[in-house]
Amino acid sequence: MTTISLSSSRPDRLKVDALVVGVVDDGGRLAFAAGGDAVEAAMGRDVLNALTALGAETRPGTVTKLPTAGALRAPVLAVVGLGEAATAGDPERLRRAAGTAVRALAGVHTVGLALPVRDATSARAVAEGALLGAYAFNAYKSDTGKSPVAEVTLLAARSRDKAVATSVEAARQVAAAVNTARDWVNMAPNDLTPEAFATLASALAKESGLSHEVLDEAALRKDGYGGILAVGQGSTHPPRLVRLVHRPRKPVAKLAYVGKGITFDSGGLSIKTSEGMLTMKCDMAGAAAVVSATAAIARLGLPVEIVAYAALAENMPSGTAQRPSDVYRAYGGRTVEVLNTDAEGRLVLADAIVRAGEDGVDAIIDVATLTGAVVVALGPRVAGVMGNDDALRESVVASAARAGEQVWPLPLPEELREKLDSPVADIANVGDRWGGGLQAGLFLREFVPPGHRWAHLDMAGPSFNSEAPHDYTPKGGTGAAVRTLVALAEAAAEGRLT
Ligand code: BES
Ligand code: ZN
Ligand code: ZN
Repeated sequence: MTTISLSSSRPDRLKVDALVVGVVDDGGRLAFAAGGDAVEAAMGRDVLNALTALGAETRPGTVTKLPTAGALRAPVLAVVGLGEAATAGDPERLRRAAGTAVRALAGVHTVGLALPVRDATSARAVAEGALLGAYAFNAYKSDTGKSPVAEVTLLAARSRDKAVATSVEAARQVAAAVNTARDWVNMAPNDLTPEAFATLASALAKESGLSHEVLDEAALRKDGYGGILAVGQGSTHPPRLVRLVHRPRKPVAKLAYVGKGITFDSGGLSIKTSEGMLTMKCDMAGAAAVVSATAAIARLGLPVEIVAYAALAENMPSGTAQRPSDVYRAYGGRTVEVLNTDAEGRLVLADAIVRAGEDGVDAIIDVATLTGAVVVALGPRVAGVMGNDDALRESVVASAARAGEQVWPLPLPEELREKLDSPVADIANVGDRWGGGLQAGLFLREFVPPGHRWAHLDMAGPSFNSEAPHDYTPKGGTGAAVRTLVALAEAAAEGRLT
């Protein structure tokens, strides 16, 4: 694990293997960002010409390295693009720059970051970006290649300021939670069965001071969790429902977080193509986010009660799998006709959402890799949020923006609801293809207990990066939604959950 510490050392005097500074576009001219002035003084004015000759850019996502030949105590200077000078201090710009730099310096042991950190918010962003950018998943590799940066020193003039130190500690907890969610998504689905996931979640809960409970197949049957059982019945690895509770002494709000935890989604008998299955170990990313974010919220001591559910099952075709046309009884008693066994996420979520209604919460937020349709609508890096309450939905959008995640509101058009009418049961699990993500949201809405505010985050796109790494985002599991869920609890703690 990469460690991070604060220092108020002058950047040119910091003894590290590589020093990172920002460069900005100052009216068409390459210039050091705040934090780089001492470097410019120590290296001499010509350093900017040298950087330009080396092809250094100010574009975010770019890094240029150059030897310092004794001008700094660090033997290597790495300059990272921060874009236009006017917006270089934007927290997400800084988070991405720190991640880009630390990722580009993999193989280097100690790194100093002299980025424009001027307050607690920017310190947290830089610390998060660095710790997220240093992530590597090597659990199955015999030859692990370059090691991630081991030690990061964050230079900040106000390093002794209590608020700055507190925000760096928050960054450590949040980054650890994101990286845990990434690990779980990256684990092979033959290792991360529902049972194995429940064991990992329980262990994390224990370490984080959460109370935890796991319903196994027998308990699920006894209590009537028909959706979780129906999805899991085709697999030799039986389903689980994990329930975790963070109960602070004087909670100012009480939220339920519900995560989709399909440890592998083959589609079931409505089987996917082999290509469509390739990334489907990521189908438990919602549950991973909910569990690891709740652990972080507890470790941060946020005064918000959280009841978290991970609805875990493996969706497989077999002689015991559910069939298209099967009807099951969901938790709470409603009947569902399953017309497509690949629309399984909504079935496990519906049971958990109904159950969350028994907890007396102020709001329910579910998180799921639910539909390809939302990826078609918003692209691979943006999640969609729907809900039955405009203010709660806007709070999710605002919390995500504050945390540096891209979440965009989507509607629940009333006229699409009738697509889910079933001739034989209370509701069908699919309608037609138009607005598929919204129909999934409308299905879930039917199960939201009366009087409850509810938001639904569909992060089928951002949960898994199939392309090249970028900024602080690695290939594979991204840990999407963890930061949004923590930020939402922070907003609730400050009474800002409108
Ligand atoms: N797990 C998938 C959704 C998904 C797609 C997640 C792409 C991540 C990336 C989900 O269970 C699913 O298969 N949904 C179907 C629903 C359809 C059958 C109504 C889909 O989106 O095609
Ligand atoms: Zn599916
Ligand atoms: Zn799925």
